[in-house]
Amino acid sequence: MTQEEFVPKAYTNTVLEGTVKWKSPSNIALVKYWGKKENQIPANPSISFTLDACATTTSVTYKKLDKKGTSFSFDLFFEGKPKEDFKPKIETFLARIEEYLPFLKEYHFKIETSNSFPHSSGIASSASGMSALALCLMSLEKELNPSLTTVFFNDKASFLARLGSGSACRSIEGPLVQWGNHANTEGSTDLFGIKYPNDVHSVFKNYHDTILLVDKGQKQVSSTVGHNLMHDHPFAKERFAQAHTNLDDLQTVFKEGNLKRFVEIVESEALTLHAMMMTSMPYFILMKPNTLQIINKIWEFRAINKSNICFTLDAGANVHVLYPESEKEQVYQFIKDELVAYCENEQYLCDRIGLGAKQL
Ligand code: PMV
Repeated sequence: MTQEEFVPKAYTNTVLEGTVKWKSPSNIALVKYWGKKENQIPANPSISFTLDACATTTSVTYKKLDKKGTSFSFDLFFEGKPKEDFKPKIETFLARIEEYLPFLKEYHFKIETSNSFPHSSGIASSASGMSALALCLMSLEKELNPSLTTVFFNDKASFLARLGSGSACRSIEGPLVQWGNHANTEGSTDLFGIKYPNDVHSVFKNYHDTILLVDKGQKQVSSTVGHNLMHDHPFAKERFAQAHTNLDDLQTVFKEGNLKRFVEIVESEALTLHAMMMTSMPYFILMKPNTLQIINKIWEFRAINKSNICFTLDAGANVHVLYPESEKEQVYQFIKDELVAYCENEQYLCDRIGLGAKQL
């Protein structure tokens, strides 16, 4: 697939007005995407669990204009209220995808969006938000051209979401999505996320992710700044190569259900992401003291109880606690008894692996 294949030919239908609505989940990377080339092309392949509960619901009401505009025409509502400060991000997104959706200036859009997780929880909403919007716009394209296949629809939705926020391309489908060229994954591409195509052991089919909200503040380093730190980074080359090797190893882990090795790869990936930020120029420490407290508690609990609990991190202080269904009672009790105390206002979100976005 090339990006030119996402540029549509003339549409067969005329559509004057309507509303489309999608609920799209967040995702948590196991092998991290950190570093990119132009046009949100990843410097290395990544893979994520699609989440279920943490999601954005977006509806787009569209009305055809009498005449194609010279700029994008849209109103934006977040949780029921007009949200002017989100508009520039959407404007940039629309400009990036206009080539692939040439009807965008022919409509006025009312975009209404809300998140299932609390605002300013420190949970990035860009993956769920951008994927939900991309899906709504694809639904309009499908009305203009009903012959689009489901495979093309999902691939293009992921392709468009990627142009909004890289990791958003992994939020269309589930339960495991891989993005980025990887020699040993058939069909993998830098252009969009694909459903992980190989065997997955049943232990991974209902994995849990409890997100401990250690720091609910604004991100200390934006993703854009963070990715850019990988340019001229002294360890970038080795890191990008390591992501390929970790993906190779995870393929065996997914097939065989080897949780001990899963834990090693996932935690190493999280710490490597943070190590990259600590060793860039300028450098950042995105963990907080409570992040480390939690990590140490998890290690202690795992050793004592012979558990398969593990953690992963995004580019921030919050901790994702991952564990299999068979350990859910024991781990949940541990989280409540020992870890919640390290969360801001004792807040955490219970999530699990999910199957992807849904049209409402
Ligand atoms: O999608 P972005 O540009 O916000 O990048 C997200 C990168 C990480 O969340 C840190 C890792 C990942 O692969 O999701």
